[in-house]
Amino acid sequence: MLSPGRSCPSSYRYGARALAGRPALEAESVWIAGGLYGNPFALDALLEAYRAERGAKALVFNGDFHWFDVDANDFQRVNDAVLAHRATRGNVETELATPQDGAGCGCGYPDWVGDETVEHSNRILERLRAAAKHFTQGLAALPMHLVARVGDARVGIVHGDADSLAGWGFAQETLATDEGMRHARTAFDAAGVDVFASSHTCLPVLQSFAGGRVLVNNGAAGMPNFRGERYGLATRIALSPAREAIYGVRRGELYIDAVPLHYDHAQWQRRFLEQWPPGSDAHASYYARIAHGPDYSRLEALRQRIITDVVRN
Ligand SMILES: [Fe+2]
Repeated sequence: MLSPGRSCPSSYRYGARALAGRPALEAESVWIAGGLYGNPFALDALLEAYRAERGAKALVFNGDFHWFDVDANDFQRVNDAVLAHRATRGNVETELATPQDGAGCGCGYPDWVGDETVEHSNRILERLRAAAKHFTQGLAALPMHLVARVGDARVGIVHGDADSLAGWGFAQETLATDEGMRHARTAFDAAGVDVFASSHTCLPVLQSFAGGRVLVNNGAAGMPNFRGERYGLATRIALSPAREAIYGVRRGELYIDAVPLHYDHAQWQRRFLEQWPPGSDAHASYYARIAHGPDYSRLEALRQRIITDVVRN
């Protein structure tokens, strides 16, 4: 039996074939923002950038839009904005809405994540429950995944990976292994999708596969994703290139871009510290990343095949 925060509850498992059905939406551009983590300033930046988008469009929050927002007003603000668009639930929303016995934060942390981080996350989730208490019904009703059609491509939007809400199969660490790549390849076949868009594992990846298939993990919309940089990332999949992209790849008529969310860092840092001062669980796990970014670079996010493909910067 795995400890809370490391286990992946059986209700989280859907299997890649669950994505093989009809698309839930069709658009010329789909924006996908996973891991907003309760950052209202990143939300503002995202909504402003999305507002400027032309044509048939959709915005999907693919889970973990709550996390640091233990203040009831912040929680409601994030919740209302997310539910006004398309959303799938992450492990955070699932554990707030329908706590699974012994799941802790429901993160399904692998063994390369230390015990302290796991314990911090379990306690963050417990503290978040008070702010969430009036919103659990709406969160419980959200799907775990959805499929979008953009042009001729089917896009599988998940929180964790192709099989599970909190799976780490689309983590940069997993995709760095032969077995991880093999498993991801089979997932495209089972799901019948051309593109997978994921989040959950906190670090971004853009990985292409044979046959024009692409896996894109946006890392975090609400936290910095690269060393020394201070913006969140969203994924934009569209029939036209993004106005601003950190990197991207073209797949036939499709542009798959990592779009920066330039939120107000000073305001966010202040807001975070009000809710999570030094000594708190979130401060211990996340403050250094919020202030300086993770120990990860853009080049590390772009995997071999992408680098030799078309890289737009
Ligand atoms: Fe997650």
